[in-house]
Amino acid sequence: MQTASSSSDITSSLRESRNFKPPAEFVKRAHLKSMAQYRKLYAESIRNPDKFWGKAAAELEWMKPWTKVCDWKEPHAKWFVGGKTNMSVNCIDRHAHGWRRNKVALIWEGEPGDEPHISRARNIPYASLLRQTCQFANVLKQFGVKKGDRVIIYMPMIPEAVFAMLACTRIGAVHSIVFGGFSSEAIKDRILDCGAEVVITADGGYRRGAVIELKKNVDAALAHCPGVRHVLVVKRTEQPVHMVPGRDHWWHEVQQNASYECPPEPMNSEDPLFILYTSGSTGKPKGIYHTTAGFMLGCQMTTKYVFDAKEDDVYWCTADIGWVTGHSYSIYGALLNGLTTVLYEGAPNHPAPDRFWQIIDKFGVTIFYTAPTAIRAFIKWGEQHVLKHSLKTLRLLGSVGEPINPEAWIWYHKVVGKGRCPIVDTWWQTETGTIMISPLPGVTPTRPGTATLPFFGVDAAVVNKEGKEQPRNVGGLLVIRKPWPSMLRGIWGDPDRYRKQYWSEVKGCYFTGDGARRDKDGYFWIMGRIDDVVNVAGHRLGTMEVESALVGHKMVAEAAVVARPDDLKGQALVAFVTLKGGQVPSNDLKDQLRAHVGKEIGAHAKPDDVRFTDALPKTRSGKIMRRLLREVATGGEIRGDMTTLEDFSTLARLRHDEE
Ligand code: PRX
Repeated sequence: MQTASSSSDITSSLRESRNFKPPAEFVKRAHLKSMAQYRKLYAESIRNPDKFWGKAAAELEWMKPWTKVCDWKEPHAKWFVGGKTNMSVNCIDRHAHGWRRNKVALIWEGEPGDEPHISRARNIPYASLLRQTCQFANVLKQFGVKKGDRVIIYMPMIPEAVFAMLACTRIGAVHSIVFGGFSSEAIKDRILDCGAEVVITADGGYRRGAVIELKKNVDAALAHCPGVRHVLVVKRTEQPVHMVPGRDHWWHEVQQNASYECPPEPMNSEDPLFILYTSGSTGKPKGIYHTTAGFMLGCQMTTKYVFDAKEDDVYWCTADIGWVTGHSYSIYGALLNGLTTVLYEGAPNHPAPDRFWQIIDKFGVTIFYTAPTAIRAFIKWGEQHVLKHSLKTLRLLGSVGEPINPEAWIWYHKVVGKGRCPIVDTWWQTETGTIMISPLPGVTPTRPGTATLPFFGVDAAVVNKEGKEQPRNVGGLLVIRKPWPSMLRGIWGDPDRYRKQYWSEVKGCYFTGDGARRDKDGYFWIMGRIDDVVNVAGHRLGTMEVESALVGHKMVAEAAVVARPDDLKGQALVAFVTLKGGQVPSNDLKDQLRAHVGKEIGAHAKPDDVRFTDALPKTRSGKIMRRLLREVATGGEIRGDMTTLEDFSTLARLRHDEE
């Protein structure tokens, strides 16, 4: 694949013609039932977005109505200008004060199973979700958290994490969730970047039978974050942790005297709701921020139509709340629609590789949303683990995070969905907030490997660098040509980077960073990132971040990180490293470097392969020839002994004029 700067014509070799129509049984009950219906609504949403979104937003609860639907001055959008609302009211109060009050909002399953020694509610009804959220909102207030303050959440997948998110939204604090797999360095960077003064965490969390020491990681981060005044700690695993007097407080103690009632803060539509850090093509993660009303509407609408959400659904999105999918779909989209959503704390293969299928049968899950990397792992573990369980309640399957390879799609369809469940392959990003391109399950004939057609209001196109649409089946840049309600509003503290990153590549368009092509039916086939961002096991990583971590090691002089295809994880990282004078390559050092990246960023960022070289191949202007490295990493031509130096000098000379 070529980079955007060299050419925007991308060659795609994937052709897939198997077609799957929505099953008649499904269509009968679906919210939307025909292509004609989709096309009509889509055309309206593009022709008159104000009318379309204005009508949709009326389904939410407002404290004050808006005066203008969209105010667009590129690259800044304001949606529902003048309106006031509150996320927690829409997610909880609406249901808790009505007939859904005893309906289960959250079904929680801890990794260790039933764990009689830790008494916790497993089913949390809307009424109790409201009480718990308000109570914790009062705790936050007690510790001085006010509207607009940033709060870091670094927690396992336990109900308190949900109470914490919602409590922030209740009082107008801006949450920034840091995935529990991130290291103390990553926590530190995020705290400092957003200026948080309060951190919510737990003593630990369970993962594959082991305890992740969350509090310890927070302590290490806070050694460099003098601005943090308070740490609120949930007791989850009960292993001993160090509590700093005056700074650290146990959740269960401080909430004891907090009231169950907390009036919601009226939030302006455009008040920030959360910041979520994600990788870009530079070494520094970007704090993508979303605001209140538009994001909320996006979550509500897409959950309703893409997942065809119904009152009696039991919905399970397996994403951790530390990623955007966990925000928009595990929690917000589900609760906004008054659904019952499943939250599972642990790994898919603990204690055995059938844990997910066991959970589906145990709770009667009807909608299941997961990532291709997980599906490929299930395939590897063997279908016998799936076949042990009936999965008869499932009616819809979803996929997100990376392109799903046709083999995985077909397996998902046959083995998990038993041929009766439509699959929605949903394309979107942290930046887009909600699903942008996806089949509608009662409407769109699907084909393995394509996310099919844009959602309402999404003016997606495949263009060349000049912004001209590419002919059918010619690859190009995936852009969005109109603002949409749940779009990012910026990069926290860095307006220039926002404009440069997203709004300058193609004039007048939001540039996604992905390459794509459209087929004869207009279906979008996502071809992956065209910048230096890679997708490892559905997690987005900037190769530059990993490079900065590597060069931070005292023995490393220079590093270049590229991706190669990987059967299981989609992509795997290969690091080419030159050492400082006098340092000797060894397998031991290779392990040390991998561990170093784990410490600096998190285990998911560890390169699969570290290869030593005495010089990196560079162009005359000093740019690392990544394309060459990618070829080497993929082809493995120069493999040999892991510890020998790779000599790129001849290859580099040969390629000089090409770059
Ligand atoms: O490259 C696309 C890929 O994941 C990127 C967004 O990553 P992130 O912000 O971490 O959000 C992941 C969850 C929404 C995209 O730019 N991607 C996401 N979904 C798909 C996908 N690639 C192909 N098909 C998808 N369905």
